[in-house]
Amino acid sequence: PRSIFFSRHGESQFNLEGKIGGDSDLSERGFRYSRALPDLIKDNIGDAPLTVWTSTLKRTMQTAQELPYPKLTWKSLDELDAGVCDGMTYEEIERAYPEDFANRDDDKFNYRYRGGESYRDLVTRLEPVIMELERQENVLVVGHQAILRCLYAYFHNLPQDDLPYIKIPLHTVIKLTPKAYGCDEERYTLPI
Ligand code: F6P
Repeated sequence: PRSIFFSRHGESQFNLEGKIGGDSDLSERGFRYSRALPDLIKDNIGDAPLTVWTSTLKRTMQTAQELPYPKLTWKSLDELDAGVCDGMTYEEIERAYPEDFANRDDDKFNYRYRGGESYRDLVTRLEPVIMELERQENVLVVGHQAILRCLYAYFHNLPQDDLPYIKIPLHTVIKLTPKAYGCDEERYTLPI
């Protein structure tokens, strides 16, 4: 049976600073994750073929750079666009846009950042990615928190209201194996 692997990019400079969005490089720890990832995948699938998908952002491409498989870059896999809040910390957003911050808390799925996107927008943006994922054999998606929440919710059939709160930790590979109904799941965390 074929498998779909999901991983967030390794820890980025912005993750360390608590800033959202942006296009920062991986941290030292993030680069350690990218160096550890090939063995984890190889131990899991052996010599089976695999395609690696990344976004156009540096942190996903750096995370995938040591993986010896064909790669595809998707603009549609770029992280949720936080519009005017891109590059800010949650504290800064709460101070600058208190009403927006509260609205997002009230309805995280539908809240759209000023000049940016909502989770609902992402679900639409990801439709072609999901169509292609359904047709493929083994794929590893190296993505972002909000993006992987949407893909994960699709394959597990989770409700919209829960989607923005799904836990997708850093430095963890999630393996989904689709069955007739639903998917089996395994998780592997690299202690780095
Ligand atoms: O902090 C990392 C990040 O990927 C941000 O770029 C993005 O805005 C955020 O996570 C999405 O998570 P949440 O919707 O919980 O703010």
